[in-house]
Amino acid sequence: VVLPSGQTMAMHTRTQDEEDLPHATKKFTLTPQRMRMIVEAFKETLELGLAKPKQVVPMIPTFVFGWPTGQEKGDILAVDLGGTNLRVCLVTLQGEGKFEITQTKYRLTEEQKQEDGQKLFDFCAECLKTFVDTNLADENSGLTLKPGEKLPLGFTFSYPCSQERIDHGELIRWTKGFGAPNTEGHDVADMFRKSLAKFLTAIINDTTGTLIASAYVNPKTKIAVIFGTGCNAAYMERVGDIPKIKNLGIDDEAAMGINCEWGAFDSFEHEHLPRTKYDTVVDETSNKPGEQAFEKLISGRYLGEILRLVICELIDEGVLFLGQNTYKLEVPYVLDTAFLSLMESDPTDELLMIIGIFTHFFAVETTLAERQFFRALAKLIGRRAARLSSCGIAAIVSKMGYLEEGCLVAMTKIRKDAGLYVNV
Ligand code: GLC
Repeated sequence: VVLPSGQTMAMHTRTQDEEDLPHATKKFTLTPQRMRMIVEAFKETLELGLAKPKQVVPMIPTFVFGWPTGQEKGDILAVDLGGTNLRVCLVTLQGEGKFEITQTKYRLTEEQKQEDGQKLFDFCAECLKTFVDTNLADENSGLTLKPGEKLPLGFTFSYPCSQERIDHGELIRWTKGFGAPNTEGHDVADMFRKSLAKFLTAIINDTTGTLIASAYVNPKTKIAVIFGTGCNAAYMERVGDIPKIKNLGIDDEAAMGINCEWGAFDSFEHEHLPRTKYDTVVDETSNKPGEQAFEKLISGRYLGEILRLVICELIDEGVLFLGQNTYKLEVPYVLDTAFLSLMESDPTDELLMIIGIFTHFFAVETTLAERQFFRALAKLIGRRAARLSSCGIAAIVSKMGYLEEGCLVAMTKIRKDAGLYVNV
């Protein structure tokens, strides 16, 4: 990697080889040996979560039983409270793995994430009302509700909730920067019901939703992973292999979805994952220090911030942007992960997209050498995230014995250009 020319730091004579990256960035590299150790530790953690309640990686039984046949039909409303957006959808299942979706997306503000929980659910309910009034009350729309007619409503609540039934979910802890008071330890289905004062059928995690939705279309699906503001996975487990729910009297042979909440892997102890000093800063300055250790190395909420912290260190050391005013880059979380994604995929020789990002958003000029450095750094951070998440997938695949036969891993990710969710 070519570094800014004419600098006096020990950052000269660079090739495209990552060995030549400065000391700080070398730490972002994960070796295959290290990955194998992580997979082993991951497998032990998954088993522990299935065996005992209240583990760091909680392996939450979802009370979603078995796979869909793909022949299910009907209209369903869904409200999805994710890490960045609130979405309201009308899904029409048509059978044969086919479906249609009408949806509206509302951006959540940082304030909304911190204000009283009930107010947040009131906002969800208001958005749902607007959606229904706009899409279902209009005679010209595809589906018109008759007075008194009811549609089932599902609530995708993508935070760790312990469940006793499909229509119940007690929030264990907020993740992804949320902190709304009076919500942790409460049944969020109940809170949402209060806001709706209507009928709520099911509460589900986004991973479980992705698992079932993908299996509806492709029965080879065995695992689902979310790469969004947060990172998490779900898969289907034999009830007999979930020791902690043996006393519920459910048939051992039944299959139940497990929401792993794997973002919590290696939290608090920090024994297994390689963390750089930048990761430590991200953790310690977050609203939940120590928590979601795995997620903080992988997910959309944090990757841009990791890149920004490396850049800021080099600014402080007088290596980057000499003589320029860099105050715009010094604001935490100002470098969105979408920028990191754009930087690493800039296809132009001159790295024009990177020029655009830095001039337009941060009012600084870059040299080609600096841009090449940023691209290399973005790639390293992204590759580390990809390798770490593959460790999690490998742990489930290996634990479940899917290696021989192979299986489909469904994924929902943030599209870098539009910030939309797509199923792959
Ligand atoms: C966080 C949440 C988890 C969710 C994931 C992806 O890890 O705790 O419930 O599935 O983000 O949205």
